[in-house]
Amino acid sequence: MELIIAITGASGAVYACGLLHHLLMRGHGVHLLVSQYGALNLRVELGIDFDEMQPLEILRAIYPQAFSYNYKGTLRAHPVDDLSSPLASGSSTWEAMVIVPCSMRTLAAVAQGFGDNLIHRCADVALKERRRFILVPRETPLSRIHLQNMLQADEAGAVVAPAMPAFYHRPMEIQDLVDFMVGRILCLLGLEPLAGIRWKGLQGE
Ligand SMILES: Cc1cc2nc3c(=O)[nH]c(=O)nc-3n(C[C@H](O)[C@H](O)[C@H](O)COP(=O)(O)O)c2cc1C
Repeated sequence: MELIIAITGASGAVYACGLLHHLLMRGHGVHLLVSQYGALNLRVELGIDFDEMQPLEILRAIYPQAFSYNYKGTLRAHPVDDLSSPLASGSSTWEAMVIVPCSMRTLAAVAQGFGDNLIHRCADVALKERRRFILVPRETPLSRIHLQNMLQADEAGAVVAPAMPAFYHRPMEIQDLVDFMVGRILCLLGLEPLAGIRWKGLQGE
């Protein structure tokens, strides 16, 4: 699958890194968009200086062995201010988009169809072309405006999947919580989830 992953300035950049890792392991073609504050959070939360020319660098923070993986997929980063990008057109070939983590600012832009950067514009394209589109918002608490924007995005065709990992799989490490969210996003993309995230009932304990 050819898809877009957008990282915006909400907390939780680690979810995007986990998702990128698993998509590349599985051979997907990923276009990466990182907003200015997405890049800032990559630095604050994971200590990585995002570089459009070397996007694989961002995986190093949580997967130090990333360079030794023989990724089957491809990863290409695009400047977020380039609205002339082929990705911004309805004639583009990408099939799905995930904004993870999704800030309340980007959520508002998506819900209102206000496209002044490539992330917003591609979100517009996803909605108007009826492509698979997943938002992973992160904020707490939520204002009425945030909630209304989520409803509006849902009504326009997006799937709103807040970064809310569960605990029934007894996570022991932060990575277990990350994997839970990554697994749910993979499911929403119609892909096989990670092992262990499907609830098997009490007998499965
Ligand atoms: C360290 C840090 C953490 C932030 N965390 C959040 C957050 O969890 N959720 C959110 O909606 N905004 C958060 N923000 C604010 C957004 O980054 C800010 O609204 C920014 O304008 C978002 O722009 P973008 O959507 O283009 O990335 C955070 C900002 C900083 C500096």
